[in-house]
Amino acid sequence: MTFQIAKQGTASKVEMYSNLVSQLRSLLEGEHDFIANAANVSSLLYHSLPDLNWSGFYLLKGDELVLGPFQGKPACVRIAMGKGVCGTAAEQRQTILVENVHEFPGHITCDSESNSEIVVPLIKDQQLIGVLDLDSPLFGRFDAEDAEGLNDLVSLFMESLHTPMSDTL
Ligand code: SME
Repeated sequence: MTFQIAKQGTASKVEMYSNLVSQLRSLLEGEHDFIANAANVSSLLYHSLPDLNWSGFYLLKGDELVLGPFQGKPACVRIAMGKGVCGTAAEQRQTILVENVHEFPGHITCDSESNSEIVVPLIKDQQLIGVLDLDSPLFGRFDAEDAEGLNDLVSLFMESLHTPMSDTL
């Protein structure tokens, strides 16, 4: 199978995320493996969204987040719940948009080029399983349209997984 990542051109953000939802749907079709699908989500986002320097997952293991599939430079491996942007989004089970990471209390620097960040929690059957984290070298790279588009993509990813999750991870 060859998968072409569609060029986003001059499409608006809403159109761009709608195209990404279609692309992700075909990428995930018939596949339920967590690691495979997470790896493809991180690659699709990294290569489709402009101005990213990191795109990937941290997965809840015990009471901490552990690095999962990603694209970008090597990153810190373990993040405690409630720490950094990822641990805060995981603890609050809410998407967190950070316009300037240097102003976020407790931000964890993995790549000194990152200046803004968005983190979306992964929730399957009311269970927190981790977070999706995107970083950008631009300040204020992410807005409410990104949050909405990424939440749609994460929902599609969650739907692709078998339940219960203990069979998958
Ligand atoms: N900046 C994140 C850590 C993960 S890296 O950005 C890949 C945080 O503060 O949680």
